[in-house]
Amino acid sequence: MNKLLIVDDSPEILKQLKWGLGKTYEVLLAENVEEAIKIFKAQHPRVITLDLGLPPDVDGASEGLRCLEMVLGLRPATKVIVLSGNEDRANALKAVQLGAYDFYRKPIELTELKIILDRAFHLATLEEENRRLQSVSLQRQGGMHGIFGQCQEMETIFSTIRKVASADVPVMILGENGTGKEMVARAIHNQSLRKDGPFVPINCGAIPENLLESELFGHEKGAFTGAAGRVQGKVEFAHGGTLFLDEIGELPLSLQVKLLRFLQEKVIQRVGGREDIAIDARIVAATNVDIETAIKKGNFREDLYYRIGVINLKLPPLRERGDDIRLLAGLFLSRYSNEFNKKIKGFSAASESAMKRYAWPGNVRELENKIKRAIIMTDSPVLDPADLGFSGVVEKSPDFSVVGMTLKDARDKVERDLLDASLKSHGGNVAKASESLGVSRPTFYDLMKKHGLQHS
Ligand SMILES: Nc1ncnc2c1ncn2[C@@H]1O[C@H](COP(=O)(O)OP(=O)(O)OP(=O)(O)O)[C@@H](O)[C@H]1O
Ligand SMILES: [Mg+2]
Repeated sequence: MNKLLIVDDSPEILKQLKWGLGKTYEVLLAENVEEAIKIFKAQHPRVITLDLGLPPDVDGASEGLRCLEMVLGLRPATKVIVLSGNEDRANALKAVQLGAYDFYRKPIELTELKIILDRAFHLATLEEENRRLQSVSLQRQGGMHGIFGQCQEMETIFSTIRKVASADVPVMILGENGTGKEMVARAIHNQSLRKDGPFVPINCGAIPENLLESELFGHEKGAFTGAAGRVQGKVEFAHGGTLFLDEIGELPLSLQVKLLRFLQEKVIQRVGGREDIAIDARIVAATNVDIETAIKKGNFREDLYYRIGVINLKLPPLRERGDDIRLLAGLFLSRYSNEFNKKIKGFSAASESAMKRYAWPGNVRELENKIKRAIIMTDSPVLDPADLGFSGVVEKSPDFSVVGMTLKDARDKVERDLLDASLKSHGGNVAKASESLGVSRPTFYDLMKKHGLQHS
């Protein structure tokens, strides 16, 4: 049955309405604002009838209007019907201005009131359905398990997840900070045959080296000072499920050996223990460091990498996901404006272009945090660059194609690209191109020669 909250200070009216409407709706009653809000928070009625003259201001409308604002602040979609006396038409109109759905003039005629109430419930249902469909369609645009993305690179990630999930082999997830590595690890677990088993994450970079071994493999009583009893480690907890080794690049070499043994023999020993314990856990690992460089430097065991990196999944940085930036921005906007009950329409054009140009070193996590913060802080219905923490002009993303090059090669590449671009944009006019780059014409010719650029 639909829940209807009736707020009125008159016991007569409460009684009359409960009697008259109790068969049609589940009727909840409140005599003042505090009671009303308490019931509202606990029961979430979608429709409320509200008397404006509530104690202590029974002759005015201040309490009723306060109640209205609180209700709409908590759930803007609530349909509030103001029941007013003949004399306070002005206040009833004010209530409608504040967001009340309708008002109804006392004395109450039950059949009439019922029609209004039915219509309010009907509208509330339609609106709810609409919101649900919107979120379903948002979900469809997203990929899986809350990971959203439509660009080609993310499509590839989704299809890889689908393929590897059920294969029960180790997976290595690579990607910069905030690209969604943990989400992907969870998605792999949730689509695997182990989905009913535990998913146990451990951040290898966050735990001091001397504690990490016991954290991973557990310890026996008396294994070291302070080891009062036997403790199971994360690997053991992951039995039957998935062990997610986050920041595996940070795993000390001594533990890399132990992990390798576990991967090869599927047994562990607790610290201070001699017994081999058989464990069936799948390893999914993640790192934001370049493991191959770590291997070259001797910081990561090659044999371990070959065991874990059977399948590599490389998450693209946000700046390379094209229109997904907008898709994700829209997702976080709707998520957090709902959560914080803010009516925010969207981003200004300047914000959209700033978000597109920005390099997003913290990737999706940074985007999410920027939008969440903006929604909490803003007073305006449209988010401007300043709301998102962009001051002034947003620098264009640096050219990341040079990352990994030597400084000389990078300089040469940038120099050549700039020369080429300025020639093109000035239709091959060397005088103008050299001027735009702030070099003399002879220097420009020298550079063209150096880079083998033709005069068009
Ligand atoms: N494709 C996505 N769709 C929706 N939300 C995402 C997506 N990718 C990341 N997020 C969100 O971004 C945040 C960071 O994701 P996650 O923790 O999985 O990234 P990470 O790569 O493990 O980050 P870190 O390197 O900082 O540990 C999470 O709050 C997650 O909700
Ligand atoms: Mg992470």
